[in-house]
Amino acid sequence: MNLITNRAEMNQLSKQLKQNSKSIGFVPTMGFLHEGHLSLVAKAKQENDVVVMSIFVNPLQFGPNEDFETYPRDIERDEKLAKNAGVDYLFVPTVKEMYPTEMGSKLTAIKRTNVLCGKSREGHFDGVVTVLSKLFHIICPDKAYFGMKDAQQVAVVDGLINDYFFPIELVPVETIREIDGLAKSSRNVYLDASERKEAPQLFQSLTLAKNKILQGERSIENLTLFIKRYIEENTSGEIDYVEMYSYPSLEPIERIKGKIIIALAVKYSKARLIDNIVMDVK
Ligand code: PAF
Repeated sequence: MNLITNRAEMNQLSKQLKQNSKSIGFVPTMGFLHEGHLSLVAKAKQENDVVVMSIFVNPLQFGPNEDFETYPRDIERDEKLAKNAGVDYLFVPTVKEMYPTEMGSKLTAIKRTNVLCGKSREGHFDGVVTVLSKLFHIICPDKAYFGMKDAQQVAVVDGLINDYFFPIELVPVETIREIDGLAKSSRNVYLDASERKEAPQLFQSLTLAKNKILQGERSIENLTLFIKRYIEENTSGEIDYVEMYSYPSLEPIERIKGKIIIALAVKYSKARLIDNIVMDVK
């Protein structure tokens, strides 16, 4: 595996790969890799000649009161994991490399952002689309891989790729879970022992709601109430939101019908967990 920190070098390599007709699968990450990221690499390896992973904790997508400084980082461990997973090129730029000068123009994610996490994380998706546009230009991937755990991010990136005609195929990859159902996340390390024990109840609430839909429930009000009650009765977390929308357009819906997402966010003492299910309902 080659480690690259310089954007011009990365871009040069990508162009060479293209000239040699090699397809590039890109896995953008903020590091502190877990099985979720590695499943993206595994899929990218199946579908491309070369896999490029980026590790960059992007300051632009963190709000002033968010955890940019304390976001977990362990580059040595990440390097080993990426190498063992079969990453060919690991791109690890510094903040100065990605943002060498103060930005004179801005990308703003307008649609699909005023719901779910976007509502309480002002500017977050502007930061995501900005850094991804830069990374897409540097790496020139054929396909880019994103985990469905952050389904809103997948929806926003879908919009970005369509709006700016990036010649990239977006590949959403199913959420990887712990054996007890908890969605894998770099932030799970912030949970204390009792929070970790009860955290799988979040996915359980979604699974039970899904079963209710399969049995015929179509009322958003009833399902929202059910999920909220379940979380309140089975966890000590504070509910940030439980919401349902069409997917990937993230438009409000009146009843459960078509492709929909049920998503939730719950705050614990040092971590805010998100999870969702997407289903196609007749
Ligand atoms: O999902 C993430 O880790 C980040 O939002 C991403 C896509 C790497 C952009 O910084």
